[in-house]
Amino acid sequence: MAEKKLPFTKAKLEEIIRQHKTPFHIYDEKGIRENARKLTAAFAWAPGFKEYFAVKATPNPYILQILREEGFGADCSSLAELVLAEMAGITGEEIIFSSNDTPAEEYIKAKQLGAIINLDDITHIEFLEKHAGLPEIISFRYNPGPLLKQGNTIIGKPEEAKYGLTRQQLFDAYRIVQAKGVKRFGLHTMVISNELNPQCFVETANMMFDLAIEIYQKLGIKVEFIDLGGGIGIPYRPEQQPVDLAYVGEEIRKAYEAKIVANGLHPVKLAMECGRMITGPYGYLVARVLHKKEIYKNYVGLDACMANLMRPGMYGAYHHITVAGKEDWPADHIYDVTGSLCENNDKFAIDRPLPRIDIGDIVVIHDTGAHGHAMGFNYNGKLRSAELLLRPDGSVKLIRRAETLADLFATLNFPQCELSLAAASTTE
Ligand SMILES: Cc1ncc(COP(=O)(O)O)c(C=O)c1O
Repeated sequence: MAEKKLPFTKAKLEEIIRQHKTPFHIYDEKGIRENARKLTAAFAWAPGFKEYFAVKATPNPYILQILREEGFGADCSSLAELVLAEMAGITGEEIIFSSNDTPAEEYIKAKQLGAIINLDDITHIEFLEKHAGLPEIISFRYNPGPLLKQGNTIIGKPEEAKYGLTRQQLFDAYRIVQAKGVKRFGLHTMVISNELNPQCFVETANMMFDLAIEIYQKLGIKVEFIDLGGGIGIPYRPEQQPVDLAYVGEEIRKAYEAKIVANGLHPVKLAMECGRMITGPYGYLVARVLHKKEIYKNYVGLDACMANLMRPGMYGAYHHITVAGKEDWPADHIYDVTGSLCENNDKFAIDRPLPRIDIGDIVVIHDTGAHGHAMGFNYNGKLRSAELLLRPDGSVKLIRRAETLADLFATLNFPQCELSLAAASTTE
């Protein structure tokens, strides 16, 4: 079983907590950079390989800046994500805009930034043309439908997923935009999510290489890039293994040689848009135990709740938990670890064997670096936490402050709002 280690000691955590109130997410910059380099190394053979980091996973410009320094671009799916990428200095074709059900203003912004626009539907050709004009380069998201043997739980079966164009639509779409004067083309798919089986990524690449060949043979269009999407899973559970990126890179290289090179399409740029795999394992939600409750089950109540991390409540997802300073204690107590929402699924763990927990203990929830803080919400008036960055030199930087009641009420124009806020500020 792989050990789930922390990049900080309990003493270091206590030092951080003296400066920054719990709960907070903290990201390990060294881990993120090293991991980013592993992906780059696995595809070093590929002409112009580019990872467009999925901004939705960790939409913080400090994180995007680190990844830009590692040579990554940004995969954006909304106006806010486009603006964040721009803020972090990622512009032009370093951005791929992969949205769905897209409002006109988002296409307009993407076009202004010179981002590569990846259309999710054939009808969006006309919509884009009407609202923003067609750019020189266009990509389409392919949904292989039941052609793909298996789906997985988060994204569902491709034929039941709302994303992308069918095979027939894809060919029609390239024909249409070619006739309208588009000169450069991309091909995209995203069919798996949080997948740990390396073979799935090799199969996706094979499917896409075959498709690129068919597009070339039938339409005479040579796609400039093939984006294999994100979806590389991470070992949330201690018994799981990370995806062997070197193996995936090498197997995809063989497929590229056998298909793309052999059919005269070389060079085609390869792209990915991973989020989870890049930052996920290097984020930690740090919380304090507020209460213990013993009724029909034993509960441990934290000062963090589902508003800080939705995945366990929403998908029943496993997140490993370490009680700081008790790493070597036997896990001989069974707890439900909860937050304070008036929702019974506000539980970070159910029936989890853990060491004896005491009020005041610091609890660290692992693997919150992607789709963690980002999914936060304000139900029950819960405030979203701060985000901290643990720098390679051991210093800690606040990269997003915690929300305040004033943030929460900023959109209210109720007359008593300011007075009540002033009164409440004494308890914040
Ligand atoms: C289009 C697209 N690209 C990339 C991603 C990133 O996925 P992951 O973080 O699992 O790699 C997602 C996730 O929702 C997505 O919808």
